[in-house]
Amino acid sequence: MTASVPAVRTVKDLRAQVSAWKRQGLTVGLVPTMGALHHGHLSLVSAIAEKVDRVVVSIFVNPTQFGEGEDFDAYPRTEEEDRIKLATTPANLVFAPNGAEMYRTGHASTVTVAGLTDRLEGASRPGHFDGVATVVTKLLLQCLPDVAIFGEKDYQQLAVIRRFVADLDIPVEIMGGKLIREEDGLAASSRNAYLNVEERATAGKFNVILHELVADVAAGADLRNAEETATQKLLDVGFKAVDYVSIVDANSLELIDKIGAPARVLAVARIGSVRLLDNMAIEPK
Ligand code: PAF
Repeated sequence: MTASVPAVRTVKDLRAQVSAWKRQGLTVGLVPTMGALHHGHLSLVSAIAEKVDRVVVSIFVNPTQFGEGEDFDAYPRTEEEDRIKLATTPANLVFAPNGAEMYRTGHASTVTVAGLTDRLEGASRPGHFDGVATVVTKLLLQCLPDVAIFGEKDYQQLAVIRRFVADLDIPVEIMGGKLIREEDGLAASSRNAYLNVEERATAGKFNVILHELVADVAAGADLRNAEETATQKLLDVGFKAVDYVSIVDANSLELIDKIGAPARVLAVARIGSVRLLDNMAIEPK
């Protein structure tokens, strides 16, 4: 029989296992995911396992973070394969609740982070971060891990999570996991599976164009010109639309005019029916 990581489906069973580990003096880490696991997710499991004794991976396709017309129904649901992949990692338990367990009848509370969520992904996907903040708050309180890890590919999501965890005094350490890339540099994402062969080839040019932007900025280019040049290059190589290419302060995510402190370029481009996200560090000279 193929090895597979065991799963629990209720908050009660999750808490029973986590409490048992804690009674034995073990520390616990949580890797929240929506499943369709790829090597980026598996790298998060390995990274957190260096810090904690036991690792829980949650798999829940969260309806409240998808907007109308987005891919909630089409989002790949591959729990069996995911649990087999996790058996090759240090993961100890999968928490895979259904929708009714996560949002019980009468659910009426939402976590909203002001400011940080107004721009970039927040502007392109209204309501998205309320859904993320609410479900991540719930997952953290359901599991009560010592540490939780989120990938830097969703850079703004990580900043939003750090904000509400600090604001709400949730007793957990938040770790950022390195952005993992495919061989041609495309950021690993569950949504890459939606791309056909031609789209996949074009998608591989996204990171190349962002590397060129980072080099232009290092050579002294005006930041707005660098953003415009990258946007035009993306359209020229075949992206259907560019939601944004923005050079921002790496912590506040505010748009900046010059590189004085650590900065980041955050970008989203559309190809076929897919929105691709990427980001890169821009270090001060
Ligand atoms: O990054 C994701 O996969 C999701 O946004 C998360 C953090 C699991 C919340 O549903």
